[in-house]
Order: sequence, then structure tokens, then C-alpha cells
Amino acid sequence: MARNVMHAVQYDAYGGGAAGLKHVEVGVPNPKANEVLVKVEAISINPVDWKIQKGVLRPLFFPGNFPHIPCTDIAGEIVQIGSQVKDFKLGDQVVSKLSTRYGGGFAEFAVASESLTAVRPSEVSAAEAAALPIAALTARDALAQIAGVKLDGTGQPKNILVTAASGGVGHYAVQLAKLGNNHVTATCGARNIDFVKSLVINCTTGIPWSTFDPNLTEKAVVVDLTPNPTSLMTSALKKLTFSKKRLVPFFVDVKREGLEYLVQLLKDGKLKSVIDSKFPLSKAEDAWAKSIDGHATGKIIVEP
Ligand SMILES: NC(=O)c1ccc[n+]([C@@H]2O[C@H](COP(=O)([O-])OP(=O)(O)OC[C@H]3O[C@@H](n4cnc5c(N)ncnc54)[C@H](OP(=O)(O)O)[C@@H]3O)[C@@H](O)[C@H]2O)c1
Repeated sequence: MARNVMHAVQYDAYGGGAAGLKHVEVGVPNPKANEVLVKVEAISINPVDWKIQKGVLRPLFFPGNFPHIPCTDIAGEIVQIGSQVKDFKLGDQVVSKLSTRYGGGFAEFAVASESLTAVRPSEVSAAEAAALPIAALTARDALAQIAGVKLDGTGQPKNILVTAASGGVGHYAVQLAKLGNNHVTATCGARNIDFVKSLVINCTTGIPWSTFDPNLTEKAVVVDLTPNPTSLMTSALKKLTFSKKRLVPFFVDVKREGLEYLVQLLKDGKLKSVIDSKFPLSKAEDAWAKSIDGHATGKIIVEP
């Protein structure tokens, strides 16, 4: 690792959106004993990245520092290894989930915990792998852990409705639910119907939330990816009243096992990362603005 200075994109304060991002030269971070230094080849943006900039998680002390280099989902090559790292070596191609609190993804190099890193086989591109961590694991764990869906096809087929099916989480959720031989219906904007139909059979648009509840089966589970005080209250009320219909607030917890599982599905051709668009790091603010706009089809990727 000859270089000690790198290009990065950071913000200094809450708010500001894309205009709040600054291009800077900063020191290349040093990996701690249980970390690897990754030469970043692809970064994917998740809504939580710009929600942290907006201050949505400020009560929880996110981000952990200013200036803050945002983004957590990266793929690249290991160029330095911490003294206690056992499972990786220099030159390994990997996908990593960085610390949500400290970020670090919008840069040429990033340090990643060994426990949140998985090897990326040569069949899987850096962009396809970087697209995975938060979005695909949210889809998998919401389906498998919360809704009790078997993704290997060994369970009883269930009826699954995926809303916002053309987005980052949604496009993985429909594919994973189909892998488990479930009956999948999806909703999306009209312009994405053909795209979503290529992932699932049943696709419709424009179902308002108020029509869902009376149509849910007795034991239906609704996974809430954007919990707010009202939905948390509804969820608690359903518990208190012993309702069999459940509204479950969910926050993804990325682990290496999950990354390995998803990378294998990509390698086997059982899952696709759909890339909405790619931007160079020099245009990171354009990628940021596109994510904030909220209408990507699949994932937005930034490449140093
Ligand atoms: N709790 C967790 O652990 C967790 C994890 C991941 C994501 N999330 C949250 O889940 C949400 C989706 O994440 P994502 O990564 O899939 O985001 P994304 O890639 O930006 O997806 C946006 C999707 O939302 C749809 N959409 C935008 N505005 C809409 C509206 N007003 N009504 C209905 N659909 C709308 C878009 O469809 P059109 O283009 O057709 O409008 C698009 O399909 C975000 O709020 C994110 O913060 C939570």
C-alpha cells in the first residue's frame, strides 16, 4: 500500500442533500487488528445513507463523526490486513458492509471489519456485489426471519405481497420470494410494470395502504421497513390485543453469513442485482440526488 492520501466525498453537518457533499483529499485509513483495508471498486447507496445526513438518526448519535464519509456497502480488493485477520489475504476480491455509524464508503479506500466481509467470486462483478448488503439482506431477513418464508422451496408456498418492488429492497424481495416457490404479487409505479413482471408474474400498481389491512388473511404478517411513531404504536396495539395479524417493525442486521449466502446466489445465477445507474466518484452528488429522488429501478452504484 504505497499511497497514504485518497480522494473521498464527505459532509460536515446535518442537511444540505447533494449540495452538502464535498470532494476532499484525506488520509487512507489504517485497518485495526480485526479489519481489512479495501481498495474500493464499487459502492451502492441506500436511503439510510442520506437519511443519516438529514438527521433522521440524530437522536441515536448518527453519524458518529463530522466530517462524515457516507455509505456502507462496498466491493473491492483487499490491499492491507489487520494483525488478527484470519480468513482473508491480500488480493482477495470482497464485498463488505461498513459501520453504519462511521460509514467510509464514498472513498478510494475503506476499512471493513473481517466479520462483515465476504469473498466475491470472479463471476460476480464489484457493482453486483456492492448492491447487496443492506438491500438484499433486508429482503432476505424480512422474508425468512419475520414472515417465516422458506427461501429454498421446502416450505408451504405462501402469498407474498411486495410493495415498491422496483426499488433496491423490492427487486431482491420478489426474486427471493419466487426462489422459495411462493405466490408473489408486487406493486410498483406504472413505468416499472414490465420490469417487475420480468421478475414476478403478478404485478399491479397503485394499491393504497388503507386497502391492505381489511384484505389481509387472519395470520398475515406485514413487515414495516420504515417504522415511525404511528406504525410503532399500531404494532404495539396489535400485540396488546393478541391480534393474529402482525405489523412488525424491522431493522436489518447485516452479518457475514448473509453476505456469503447472497453472493453464492448471484454466482449460481439464482439472484440478479439490477443496476439502475452508475456514477464515477467525481459525480457522487448526482448519484446522491438520484437516490434522494426515490425512483431508482434497482440499485445506484458509484465507482471510484
Ligand atoms: N428497516 C431497515 O432495516 C431498512 C433496510 C433497507 C431499506 N429500508 C427502507 O426501505 C425503503 C426502501 O428502500 P430501498 O433501498 O428499496 O429504496 P429505493 O431503492 O430508493 O426504492 C425506492 C422504491 O420506492 C418506490 N417509491 C418511491 N416513492 C414512492 C411512493 N410515494 N409510494 C410508493 N412507492 C414509492 C419507488 O418506485 P417508483 O419509482 O415507481 O416510485 C422505488 O421502487 C427506504 O425507506 C429505506 O430507508 C429500511
